[in-house]
Amino acid sequence: MFLRVVAFVAALLASSGLCCGNSTTNGTFSNPILKSGGADPWVISHDNYYYMTYTTNDNITLLRSRVLTDWNNAEQKLLFKPPPGLNYSTDMWAPELHQLDGKWYVIYTADPRNDSPPPEIDMWCDYNCPAVNHRMFVLEGSDSNPWTSVYSYKAELDTYDQFAIDGTYFQHEGSLYHIYSCWFRKYDAWPANLCISKLSNPWTVASPFSERQVISVPTYPWEKTPYGRPFNDRLSSNEAPQQLNNPTTGQKFVVYSAARSDNRNYCLALLELVGDPMNPSDWRKHPEPVFYQNPQEKAYGVGHASFVKSPNEKEDWIVYHGMVDPTNGWGARTIRAQAFTWNQDGTPSFPRPGYGPYAVPGGQST
Ligand SMILES: *[C@@H]1O[C@H](CO)[C@@H](O)[C@H](O)[C@H]1NC(C)=O
Ligand SMILES: *[C@@H]1O[C@H](CO)[C@@H](O)[C@H](O)[C@H]1NC(C)=O
Ligand SMILES: *[C@@H]1O[C@H](CO)[C@@H](O)[C@H](O)[C@H]1NC(C)=O
Ligand SMILES: *[C@@H]1O[C@H](CO)[C@@H](O)[C@H](O)[C@H]1NC(C)=O
Repeated sequence: MFLRVVAFVAALLASSGLCCGNSTTNGTFSNPILKSGGADPWVISHDNYYYMTYTTNDNITLLRSRVLTDWNNAEQKLLFKPPPGLNYSTDMWAPELHQLDGKWYVIYTADPRNDSPPPEIDMWCDYNCPAVNHRMFVLEGSDSNPWTSVYSYKAELDTYDQFAIDGTYFQHEGSLYHIYSCWFRKYDAWPANLCISKLSNPWTVASPFSERQVISVPTYPWEKTPYGRPFNDRLSSNEAPQQLNNPTTGQKFVVYSAARSDNRNYCLALLELVGDPMNPSDWRKHPEPVFYQNPQEKAYGVGHASFVKSPNEKEDWIVYHGMVDPTNGWGARTIRAQAFTWNQDGTPSFPRPGYGPYAVPGGQST
């Protein structure tokens, strides 16, 4: 009887949205970690809080939570909402919050007027090119506290007046780099590659165009969509690069997303740095994807990840988006988290994507 009452109350609370649902209970949690959906999650931990941003399109919103595995009742703060009519007023995608030189910076993608180029521009592209005006931008926070900082527009991050999305900061031996999804030419459209340029500070690019390097091109069949057509460059992409360092060996990786974000084949792939970041041949690509769809669990289109530690700092966690129903495209994406480990050779060992229940991160209170 007691158990039935408990179950009844839990069901009531769950249906009222007040509790539980897929949130964290009794040492376990289930995915997704944010019920309302979302894409391109970025999570960091700082001073006993986790912070998350993700794509909210017409603004940049920061979430704050004591736990990594339940964001349904997280505190929310509007960081930035641009006035209309600027080059960075619409399609604000994949924001990331980084602490650099004691300040907080938000790096994000945006475009003007939802980037619908008129036929006079579109005709220059090999295929249609609705993303021709997407660029990278930077906000700067006012002080050393990510939550109370006031964020204001700092600069466009120079990508030589060419397509740029999903940019991130990469740090190596005291230098700062910008790695982002790029085209070979201004009116290229596809494929989308990964490019790198050197920065002199978080908002200023030091490399002239001649020194910008393409470090990854979608060459394997699994990097192309539709899957398995080796000569099909249309909808082939490398995007969403993220730095991941092995805490034991010091190896530096870029985990990126490949294939196309609106369908089941979207997956995570791996580059390892073996020398100078500005030398394309010093980036070794793993020949297979490292995290990809799991049809048995209805986990499709898994990608656009970020990486964070458990509260006890002993475990590594991946936060990513995926779909239950791959036929619904971008709108089907929800945000998920899982623990991962490391292989003998120092590369990350990701689990198969799924929904759980999984054990909560080590040191998490609920
Ligand atoms: C919990 O996650 C499952 C997927 O495993 C989903 O089918 C279900 O709708 C989710 N429930 C809530 C309340 O979000
Ligand atoms: C909580 O987890 C423990 C250990 O797995 C289990 O024995 C117990 O039955 C669970 N309690 C509830 C209410 O689910
Ligand atoms: C930010 O954007 C999201 C998604 O469009 C929207 O739900 C939210 O209300 C916006 N926040 C503000 C303060 O405008
Ligand atoms: C807006 O973008 C266009 C096209 O990239 C560029 O020519 C123009 O200089 C930009 N405007 C500002 C104020 O940066």
